[in-house]
Parts: sequence; C-alpha cells; structure tokens
Amino acid sequence: MESVSHENRLFPPTSEFVENAHISGMDAYKAMYVKSLEDPEGFWAEAAQDLHWFKPWDSVLDASNAPFYKWYDGSRTNLSYNCLDRNIEAGLGNKVAIHWEGEPGDTRELTYKQLHLEVCRFANALKARGLQKGDRVAIYLPMIPELAIAVLACARIGAVHSVIFAGFSADSIRDRVLDSETCMVITGDGGYRRGKMLELKKIVDEGVASCACVKDVIVVKRGDEHPVDCPMQDGRDSWYHELVADVSDDCTAEEMEAEDLLFLLYTSGTTGKPKGIMHTTAGYQVFSYLTSKYVFDLKADDVYWCTADVGWITGHTYIVYGILQNGVTQVMYEGAPNHPDEGRFWEIIEKYKVSIFYTAPTAIRAFMKWGDKWVTGRDLSSLRLLGTVGEPINPEAWIWYHKMIGAERCPIVDTWWQTETGGHMLTPMPGATPTKPGCATTPFFGIEPAILTDDGKEVEAGILAIKKPWPGMLRGIYGDPQRFKDTYWCKWGGKYYFPGDGARRDEHDYIWILGRVDDVVNVSGHRIGTAELESVFVEHKDVAESAVVGVPHEIKGQGLIAFVTVIEGRDHDDHLRKELIAMIDKSIGKFARPERILFSSDLPKTRSGKIMRRILRDIAEGKELGNTTTLADPGVVEELQEQFLKS
Ligand code: PRX
Repeated sequence: MESVSHENRLFPPTSEFVENAHISGMDAYKAMYVKSLEDPEGFWAEAAQDLHWFKPWDSVLDASNAPFYKWYDGSRTNLSYNCLDRNIEAGLGNKVAIHWEGEPGDTRELTYKQLHLEVCRFANALKARGLQKGDRVAIYLPMIPELAIAVLACARIGAVHSVIFAGFSADSIRDRVLDSETCMVITGDGGYRRGKMLELKKIVDEGVASCACVKDVIVVKRGDEHPVDCPMQDGRDSWYHELVADVSDDCTAEEMEAEDLLFLLYTSGTTGKPKGIMHTTAGYQVFSYLTSKYVFDLKADDVYWCTADVGWITGHTYIVYGILQNGVTQVMYEGAPNHPDEGRFWEIIEKYKVSIFYTAPTAIRAFMKWGDKWVTGRDLSSLRLLGTVGEPINPEAWIWYHKMIGAERCPIVDTWWQTETGGHMLTPMPGATPTKPGCATTPFFGIEPAILTDDGKEVEAGILAIKKPWPGMLRGIYGDPQRFKDTYWCKWGGKYYFPGDGARRDEHDYIWILGRVDDVVNVSGHRIGTAELESVFVEHKDVAESAVVGVPHEIKGQGLIAFVTVIEGRDHDDHLRKELIAMIDKSIGKFARPERILFSSDLPKTRSGKIMRRILRDIAEGKELGNTTTLADPGVVEELQEQFLKS
C-alpha cells in the first residue's frame, strides 16, 4: 500500500498551550505512554480512581477468554451516575451542562442539576412503562436535549440503548429493531434539517409496522411551532411530555456489573448486514472519560462543541458519556451547518464562546468551498483547541482549518478511531505532539499499534493492528460471537485486533492512516459497506448483478459509484436509475446514494468469476487501466469506460 501524502511540516503547540496542558510536552507524553504499556493494569486502575464505583473491581483486565476480554471485573458502577450525580456532588450542579440550540434558533440551557432531574424523570417514566434492565430500546431522535436525556435515562436503569441516526430509512430501523429484539422505540414527531421538518414518527411507524417485539413507542414533541402530522397508535404510542409529567424526580441509579451491556450501535461491515457493536459498562466508562480529558485537554472553564450527531459513535462518546463525565459545559446543535446561511457554525462559536471545537473533515472541506467570507468578521478568539474525526483529512483542508479557524494558534487533534474502539486510539496530545497536516500521529495511552503484512510481519506501510486490549474495545457483535471473532480477531491468529485500515509509519514514528483495506467506503465520515448497496440493487427485478466502489470525492472524502448489469432484454435508462436510487433511500437512507450508476451488459471478472473491483475503481476514477490480462472478457471494460465518459 502506498501513501499519497508527503506532507512533512511540523506544527508544535504554542508554549502557552504546553504550559497549561494536562500533558505538557513530548517527554511527559512518552513517559506516561511507556508506563501505560509496561503496566497497563496499574495505569487503567489509576485512571478509574477519578470515577464513582459502587463496588471496586477484583481484577482490572481478565484475558482468560480472549478475545472476550473483561475489564474491571467484579466492580459495580453506573455511567449516568458518573455523568451527573458525581458532578453534582462535586459542586457542579448549577454549571451549564448543555447549551442547546435548535436549527430555527430556539434555545435551551440545562445545568447538571436540571439534566439530572430530566434524566431521573424519564428513567422513572421508562420504568413505569415496564422497561427493565437489559431490555433493548431504539432511539431515533433529532439532535435535541431529549436525545441525550434518553440515552442517560437508559443507562441509569440499565436498559440497553441502540441509537439509530435519524437519517436512516424505515427499512434500516426495522432491521436494527429485529436484530436486537427491541421492545421500545423513542422518537420525535419531527426534527429540523435545512429549514424543513423531517417527519420522523412516520418513518418509525413504517419501520416497526412488522416488528411484533415493539410494544411501546414514545414520542417527543418537537413540532410545536411547526405542527407535524403525527398519528398516535392506541395502546402503543405515548407522548414523552405526558409520561414525565407526573413521575418522581428521584431515581436511584442501577448498580451495573462491569460487563453489563451499555449500548448497541449498528455499523457497516463488508457484508450486506450491519453489525450491532456491543459496548459494556465499566471499561467504556473509563476509556471515554480519560480520552476526553487528555485529548481535548478539558478544563473547568471550557466550552466544548462537537458537531457530530449522537446517532454515531462520536456523539455517544464525545457528546454524551466522555464529555459529561468530565463535568464541562458543551454546546449541542440540532441542524445543518448552512442554515440559514453558511456562517452558522462560526456564529455559534462566537455566541457561546466555544473553546474546543470538534468536527469532520468533510465539513471543513465544505466550509473551504463556501469561502472565507463566512468566517472573517466572526470573533473566534475563544477557541483554543480544534479536532477532526471520521476520515483522513487532506493537508489542504488541515491548513485552512489551522489558519482560518485556529488562527495558527490552536493545536489540531486528528483523532483516528472507530465505532468498535469506543474512543480515540491514535491522536496527537494537544499540549505535547508537534502535528503534521493529515496525520493522526501517535497512540493514546495503553494503545499499542503495529503495521503488519497479511502474515504478521512488521512493515513501514501495511495493515494497522492493535496489539493490546484496551478498556473501550467492543465486546462483541450482538447475537453473533462467531462474526465478532472472524471479523476482528482472525487475521493474525487471534492475537491482535484488526481494524480494517491501512497505515504507514514515518520517520518520526508517526502513524498515517491510509484508508480502509476492505470494501467499506467512508462517505462524509459515514461508514457504508459496498455490499449493502449491492444487495439492495439486486432486489430490483431488472437487475442481474451489481458492484459498488468508492472513489475520491472533493467534499465527501469518498463517493460511491455503482456498476449495474441488467437482465438481458430489459431497459436500462434514467427511469431505472431513479428507481434504484429510490431503493437506496428506502433501504438505507439518502446519505448512502451513489454519485453515479453505470449500466453495462457485464462486469469485469476473472476467469473464475470474481468481480475485479480494482478495475472498476480505475474506470470510476477515469484512470489508465492496469493489467487486464486476467479478465475473462476484456471487451467489457471498454464498454464501461465508454459509458463512464458519456454519462
Ligand atoms: O477508516 C477509518 C475512518 O473511519 C473508520 C471508522 O468509522 P466509524 O466506525 O463510523 O467511526 C467514525 C468516528 C470515529 C475508520 O476505520 N476514520 C476515523 N477517523 C479517522 C479515520 N480515518 C483517518 N483519520 C481519522 N482521523
């Protein structure tokens, strides 16, 4: 695997930042990193001391049944307690936990005490509906405070939340609900996006129509100002505000076992079926707490803002659990970055005096395209630290972020991690690591990365591996332990974790992420398995076969190009193209739409019938084709190239 980036400029943090940072300078980072690898159990035991435990652990790490590792076994704790009660006991009750802003400009402010109260009430309402520890609950909400409240209320009583990003379709809801046998769905009548109201309840109704396991649907009213048609089904549906109206404010947090399931979050893999990634209580708690503290260098007077949606792992760890455990104030925003205009984010930073800003490279590229005029004139002097997540950031976007937003003063933490890892794995330490544009740099404490060949030899550029277990690691794939082992632990004989990314190590011992090595594509920071689209296309009566590939995209990072062969004699025209796009919208969600769909009479295959994706990628990128001699029918390629140029 070859890296395309030769960016080698170093950007050290300012001396002011270094002086005040939790981790000051590379020597401090290195000493602590070495300690964390030499004595991981000692390191993770010490890290856990800041948090509340109803009962301490018997062992920090139990590796006796690897890869089913156990962390803090024997302990009892509760994430909602550590996010709320612990901070209130420490005197932070009247501190703002969340400054919320809706897309139309409506606002709400919740102190730690108020958030605690809302969480306790909703937790009591859930209990009153019969919800019990271990029950699975799907949450399909816009970015409103009730999303964080619902997540924390589940954690408080030990119910397992499965948040579904509100851009997913009805079919996606159905698949996730059935896979985890969800008994309850928490949703809203709607949510704002680019000035429009998304009618979420209708999507839920369609999604759960055939799910007998769903007994309860709780609906948050978002559409006061903009009433939404929201039919309620008798005996199944209830309004959130009615349920919380007459319940007690007092709800004791359930004492959870260390390995009790905290949440499921579905993510794409290389098959057509998304995986329910399992995260459990104690290890995730400590890992989300510690990575937040050090990577964002969190201090008592910070105002933090992460622009991700709680529907993705970034929002779970770095809006809800990690950030609230650290007792800081954060901003939560419901809508689009360009509503009512392209200056919305900078207006929010100015208004709330945001000091730490965490966003995705795709957003940065969009801002660059919209032009500097939206930024200039805004007072962004409150910012002291910037972050990126979700996909590789191209050096050009990094430099723009550094100059235009960070005023060449704010360190940028380019954080590499995954749904499965629970939290940051490779990242600069803001008060220590001299950064390089586009580089995730060095491992977090306790994380031991390696770059390997398929057969486990250490190389400079190859496949990323993680050699040691860490507390935030996934504990399984819901209902499918074999798939968990096969996907993540088989590559190097069960010894190391296989994340599915390629990487390169440079002369500073920094690690560069080179993108996925499997058939997973990263579109605007959203993981999409090409097999998911392919299995949707072949459901169409006129489609014989399809192959989907990822290609570079100026704003989204990667875009999807679909190659579709139709059954002989059937028409392939714009009408079919529209039907196929409508199928993707319905089965996955609009965010998974391909950029282009190309039709052909066949796909390039080897003589043994395997589709040659490398050639499809070359065609889709308009490149010179590599070796085509192994193709069964080289004529197919010419036809596709012609199509590509024409369309
Ligand atoms: O390919 C890597 C890419 O996103 C994948 C994980 O996607 P997901 O589970 O949806 O989580 C995204 C948010 C953590 C990884 O396998 N990725 C994530 N962060 C980076 C990245 N690629 C390069 N640089 C990053 N900072």
